[in-house]
Amino acid sequence: MQIAVLNGPNLNLLGTREPELYGRTSLADIEAQVRAVAGRSGVTLDWQQTNSEGTLVEAVQRLAGHADGALINAAAYTHTSLALRDALLAVRVPFVEVHLTNIFARDAVRRTSLLADLALGVIAGFGARGYELALTALVDHLRER
Ligand code: DQA
Repeated sequence: MQIAVLNGPNLNLLGTREPELYGRTSLADIEAQVRAVAGRSGVTLDWQQTNSEGTLVEAVQRLAGHADGALINAAAYTHTSLALRDALLAVRVPFVEVHLTNIFARDAVRRTSLLADLALGVIAGFGARGYELALTALVDHLRER
């Protein structure tokens, strides 16, 4: 099974970026943790991070025919990117939306996701661990299908 993990802007700064909100775990550490879970489940991961909206849109477009599913933390583009929503509507790959923080308990602009109604589900508020939870949920869902 092939799973893509797409990370949006500023997630490359995890570990040092607003640690009181996002924790002290770096994105590389999260990747290592998720790769360990994937390895035990026989899943191949394609892990990407970009600060650019266009690159994220292109990464979604490339999922067609390449990935069985995806984990997507689009970061700030979650709340703003109609282009990313349109790409997900075009590709229709099963995905889980992931956020480190509980976006529904944050400032008003972050309480809306332009992607969430297209997702299988949303995991938000469990910090770095949310990625592992999301991977397990996605893989179980795809295997039960
Ligand atoms: C985030 C939440 C977004 O609102 C924010 O812009 C991020 C990270 C999260 O993982 O909690 O960059 O997606």
